[in-house]
Amino acid sequence: MKQFTSVHDVPNVAALVEEVLQLKQAPYTHKTLGQDKTLGLIFLNPSLRTRLSTQKAGMNLGMNVMVMNLDKEGWALETRDGVVMDGTTVEHIREAAAVMGQYCDIIGIRSFPKLQDKEEDYSEDLLNKFIELAGVPVVSLESATRHPLQSLADLVTIKEQTAAGKRPKVVLSWAPHIKPIPHCVANSFSEWMQQADVELVITNPEGYDLAEEFTRGAQVLHNQDEALQGADFVYVKNWSSFENYGQVLTDGKGWMMTNEKLALTNNAKVMHCLPVRRGLELSHEVLDGPNSLVIEQANNRLYAAQAVLKRMLDGIA
Ligand code: CP
Repeated sequence: MKQFTSVHDVPNVAALVEEVLQLKQAPYTHKTLGQDKTLGLIFLNPSLRTRLSTQKAGMNLGMNVMVMNLDKEGWALETRDGVVMDGTTVEHIREAAAVMGQYCDIIGIRSFPKLQDKEEDYSEDLLNKFIELAGVPVVSLESATRHPLQSLADLVTIKEQTAAGKRPKVVLSWAPHIKPIPHCVANSFSEWMQQADVELVITNPEGYDLAEEFTRGAQVLHNQDEALQGADFVYVKNWSSFENYGQVLTDGKGWMMTNEKLALTNNAKVMHCLPVRRGLELSHEVLDGPNSLVIEQANNRLYAAQAVLKRMLDGIA
């Protein structure tokens, strides 16, 4: 595996899910595979789960791991080609990515969208330039439009909680938030679910439909109560408007996931990628209740990252 930026980089999703589950049973089976190999994790935005789970995944495989908060600890990065760098940027991505590729055998990078220019964000310019320039395998730690390590862990969590032979109904349910949030998790979740044996329903207020390229094949309903009927899993997540790009159009009153809403479902398990705004996106009772899977989801981030890194190491061994 040369890059892991979306579900489209995975030839057989079911096989990768099985590999994650096997690693969860025996995480140290390949503890020397990454010996003398270096994993560089580059963050331009904050992280708790992605940072720690991917770092630990590398360590479980015997890798050396370096972490850099590039936005705070590196030089101000220029990504545009052909510009005169007489402003605030100090280092061009052409040198920065190539230099990091000298020190690392695999690079992970996190870069959120600015949510100001749809075309710019959806072009995935920074991620694509890193892939082009670093010269080593690149894993997305969340990019402008997708969060593939999260989605793989989400799919593994659903698989673990589903009886053999059952095709669960999975509802991606928009939730309120106080500020504009990227579409990455929701886009990515939808894309991965379309590759799995599930019935996917997406519910969000008018004006919050995700980009069709990510939701094609799923049912999109603007009535949350209707969408929740008979759900086996409810994935709660906020995102800003795609149509009115990056804007918050409503306070979302009535969209928070509560026990009353869960009563409409088939005793659904509740998921969220975290961090979560308690009492706004999800009620305290749901998060602390028996149907919440959020901690196990976060646990599965480790094994998802480990399976992806293992495949990359197998490719460069
Ligand atoms: N879910 C997730 O990616 O969490 P972090 O932003 O803390 O890494």
